[in-house]
Amino acid sequence: MGGAVICLANNKGGIGKTSVTCHLACALGRKGKKVLVVDNDPQSNASGILLPKRALVYHTLYEIYDSGGKPPRTASCVYTTEYPGVDVIPNVEQTSGLLLNLAGGYPESLATLRRRVRPLAVKDYDVTLVDCPPTVCLFTANALFASDWALVPVDAGSSHSLDGLKKVLDLVESIQDAGNTGLSLLRLLVNRMDARTVISRTIAGEVIRRFGEDMVFSSRIPRLTAFEQADHAKETIFLRQGKSPGARAYEALAAELLAALERDKKQKKQNRKQENTP
Ligand SMILES: Nc1ncnc2c1ncn2[C@@H]1O[C@H](COP(=O)(O)OP(=O)(O)OP(=O)(O)O)[C@@H](O)[C@H]1O
Ligand SMILES: [Mg+2]
Repeated sequence: MGGAVICLANNKGGIGKTSVTCHLACALGRKGKKVLVVDNDPQSNASGILLPKRALVYHTLYEIYDSGGKPPRTASCVYTTEYPGVDVIPNVEQTSGLLLNLAGGYPESLATLRRRVRPLAVKDYDVTLVDCPPTVCLFTANALFASDWALVPVDAGSSHSLDGLKKVLDLVESIQDAGNTGLSLLRLLVNRMDARTVISRTIAGEVIRRFGEDMVFSSRIPRLTAFEQADHAKETIFLRQGKSPGARAYEALAAELLAALERDKKQKKQNRKQENTP
């Protein structure tokens, strides 16, 4: 079995999908893993954060989604980043204009990323993280259709952050029904946690109550201005603050994620063995 493809989705905006994608990718890279980030959001924030500042980008996800054009070799859309072990397939704003084409080409268009990106992701990378826009749209559906796992970040700083969960989980179910039976909910991740505030404690408690402790990462990402500052500078905290509390939180999350993937791999192997035993 090849590497794991993980889609980060939540249809609420500004809850930290991109921040989690980029920081988790860097933390995994620092653990020696080969990581691919697919910037599946035309806002292109992950591309801006990960690509070197004056990087020239010629091929992007636009061409991969553009059914009218000649599909590019996916490998030509992959760029190295400033962070060890981390590559990115960047996006551009113009990709948002392709949503209508994707809708016109549905249901075949649902498998665009699965056909054009997943084979390379699984073959060449240990982990692929797919960042998504804050809407339940054909870009998000494409990401889920190409993925093994859905990782759902939740913002412990906003009382609205639980509202979007049902829509994401319904979408995960409909993508399973549409044919990606290999897709599962990996875990929810509590981001922007500030244990001193009642709202953070209430939201974290509510997520565990609804989904069970096993379905929520025990690593939580603290609310830190360092993340906002890094975002403003279009970089991750690993560039200048690699030993900060924020960096350590992501290192713990990366270790927990790898352990969860390893457990799943063993479980699947065991299931296959049992199926083959007469
Ligand atoms: N743990 C955190 N502590 C403090 N700030 C954070 C944290 N996580 C994310 N942020 C900040 O919150 C803002 C929104 O984060 P981000 O862009 O990752 O959200 P998003 O869900 O990807 O947004 P969109 O829905 O627009 O794609 C950014 O300024 C980011 O730096
Ligand atoms: Mg984002």
